[in-house]
Amino acid sequence: MSDQTRFLLTENDLPKFWYNIHADSPVPPTPVLHPGTMEPVTPDFLSVLFPMDLILQEISTERYIEIPEEVREIYKLYRPTPLLRARRLEKALDTPAHIYYKYEGASPVGSHKLNTATAQAFYNKKDVTKALTTETGAGQWGSALSLACNYFDLPLEVYMVKVSYNQKPYRRILMETYGAQVYASPTDRTNYGRALLAENPDNPGSLGIAISEAVEVAATSGGAKKYSLGSVLNHVLMHQTVIGEESLKQMDMAGEYPDVVISCVGGGSNFAGIAYPFLRENLKNGKRTRLLAVEPTAAPSLTKGMYTFDYGDTAKMAPIVKMHTLGHTFIPPTIHAGGLRYHGMAPSLCALYDAGHIEAISVPQKATFEAAIQFARSEGIVPAPESAHGIRATINEALDAKEKGEKRVILFNLSGHGNFDMAAYEAYLHGELEDYEYPAEAVKEAMTHLPEINLAA
Ligand SMILES: Cc1ncc(COP(=O)(O)O)c(C=O)c1O
Repeated sequence: MSDQTRFLLTENDLPKFWYNIHADSPVPPTPVLHPGTMEPVTPDFLSVLFPMDLILQEISTERYIEIPEEVREIYKLYRPTPLLRARRLEKALDTPAHIYYKYEGASPVGSHKLNTATAQAFYNKKDVTKALTTETGAGQWGSALSLACNYFDLPLEVYMVKVSYNQKPYRRILMETYGAQVYASPTDRTNYGRALLAENPDNPGSLGIAISEAVEVAATSGGAKKYSLGSVLNHVLMHQTVIGEESLKQMDMAGEYPDVVISCVGGGSNFAGIAYPFLRENLKNGKRTRLLAVEPTAAPSLTKGMYTFDYGDTAKMAPIVKMHTLGHTFIPPTIHAGGLRYHGMAPSLCALYDAGHIEAISVPQKATFEAAIQFARSEGIVPAPESAHGIRATINEALDAKEKGEKRVILFNLSGHGNFDMAAYEAYLHGELEDYEYPAEAVKEAMTHLPEINLAA
């Protein structure tokens, strides 16, 4: 075997299709319900928020959906992204495991989020949407959509969780640099935001609240503004599958095939992006790769949440979906991985986890930063705190392989860099971070607020 470190594809290898797991999934999709009537949603309801092409992708069972040329042109700015073998990390761990990572932080905005932002901005422009609204937690998604909207000449309003707005001024400035308007949520621009501020002017905000505000603005705009979500929905996960499709080719170049594919999960999009093409190979071509989703112990929707129907947002305006949920009333602890602080998870991923096709674990914050620092000191890239959850699990796997004397091939998705997350690193380096285990009683209490669903069998 060669001692190659970087496995690079050319522009000609850029995928021409997104992969839709619903064509091959052994578990049927669960219905999406209207938050008012609790009946399955109609395209009419969804069209208030989304352009028709994205609605059709959301319900499609086509295996492959062609990536429009305009989207591929923007992908060419940073795709195919590199795949690297983490030789220095392997050496530091003294493990027989081979560790590979796909580097999505190579995108101009620093994460995988641009893969779907570009597609969503394109379809909205095509559908003559006048402006977009969205929420952002850590700011990665907001930055990606800001750049994509700039390319398609679409004004964008970003509702940024207030605690992150204050913690991460540079992400806000990046979004403004690309031309977006950024507001600290809760704001006084929406009925929901005003009601929350009247109760508590210091409300720190949450992703659920920011989603509610962005949805309210779009839903009350008389059709001028539409809403864009950076994770959870089928079409978002599908746009991310370029990650896994490229990785399959790059692992082939390396002459290896992964025993385990690992990534962090917030709403599930970067994990699905790398894992679903490998799941297709498991389901159709007899491969047996383990697929491991990693979440924080502070927001453990898969490992501690209940698998049930719940609202997608706090104000109960977004559709109800079946997912592993901590409850839409979830108040997230202020961990630094802002992008993993969501109460739910992508329905397709939950159904596959429930049926045993995907594994999940949760890891605590301090051990996550310890892994991030070890990665930075060996590979040089400072990972986003979200991505570092996948690194923690990767290191655990590599150490387990060492203990068992196994040559294990591990592939993880480095979903983003952490160059804007220095405050989090500083807090860790100064011993100021704490672990937080989300209490089972809080989940139990939140389950008393779930919607009551009686679907006809
Ligand atoms: C770098 C990075 N990785 C992962 C995530 C989690 O989102 P998802 O599960 O949709 O990939 C985020 C969300 O903001 C992020 O910024």
